[in-house]
Amino acid sequence: MSKTIKKIGVLTSGGDAPGMNAAIRAVVRTCAYHKIECVGIYRGYQGMIEGDFKEMGARSVNNIINKGGTVLKSARSKEFQTKEGREKANQHLVAAGIDALVVIGGDGSFTGAEIFNAEFGLPVMGIPGTIDNDIFGTSHTLGYDTALNTVVEVIDKIRDTASSHNRLFFVEVMGRDAGHLALNSGIGAGAEEILIPEENLGLERLLESLQKSKASGKSSSIVVIAEGDKIGKNVFELKDYVDENLPEYDVRVSVLGHMQRGGAPSCFDRVLASRFGVKAVESLLEGKSNFMVGLLNDKIALTPLEQAIKGNTEIDRELLRVSEIMST
Ligand code: F6P
Repeated sequence: MSKTIKKIGVLTSGGDAPGMNAAIRAVVRTCAYHKIECVGIYRGYQGMIEGDFKEMGARSVNNIINKGGTVLKSARSKEFQTKEGREKANQHLVAAGIDALVVIGGDGSFTGAEIFNAEFGLPVMGIPGTIDNDIFGTSHTLGYDTALNTVVEVIDKIRDTASSHNRLFFVEVMGRDAGHLALNSGIGAGAEEILIPEENLGLERLLESLQKSKASGKSSSIVVIAEGDKIGKNVFELKDYVDENLPEYDVRVSVLGHMQRGGAPSCFDRVLASRFGVKAVESLLEGKSNFMVGLLNDKIALTPLEQAIKGNTEIDRELLRVSEIMST
């Protein structure tokens, strides 16, 4: 039988994402609602190793629901990948009386949680937070919706200058291994072509498509490219390639970078974070462990951490077709 949980630790780990603060707030307030203690752990697993903790009550999370980033800060800890590091972390948790953990992050963070649970038996619960939306067991990760809106807003601005100068822009968006952000923002921003890691469209196809669009009377174009794209060239090499092969195009590159991870979370991400936080804490209180909370068919559901880590999120192929039709 699982022992009664009286104190829950919460941390954010890996790349930050808008909505993480709203999730911290939700975890802290759900603990307060159920009259148990909550401890914020700073800088992810690194702060756990160093005992960088702070007690958090309902009022300590005032005015953060609307803030980007994470008030608990985030890190990718190399030391936590060692047994010695995890032992140090466990000693600090035991000393602080923490008897369960909520980890807000991506699959790397969940892997850490799973290993820690296997070694020390601490109940753990994951909340998916990454702008990449590449976690199995949820249709949306925290921050994804906000990042989509950020990217679309920026590409709208790029479109203004692209059309004024009759230019072609390659816009690189984040997504190391996943094209969800590129594909959906690309359709939302009316991109001519969208290049993603899941699909190698090939350089010839890209040239053909650009030629076709010029011939059809388009004077400017936006091509969205995910940073992890498979075409085999980075965005600047692509520009050189098009410069060489289609001299009729005046090409510019815009790498959006980390601005995509910042900013106030959208309403969708705030609501999602609140629902995730409640479910994570209440599931731990029900004696559950080693799950990730997620959004499946509009309902908050649990997926075993192991599946969340190993499972792949599929690109919706229909979106590729929609994009192709839209670029007619
Ligand atoms: O996983 C989120 C993400 O923003 C990726 O899209 C990107 O490749 C990576 O993090 C960048 O990581 P860092 O902030 O460590 O450079």
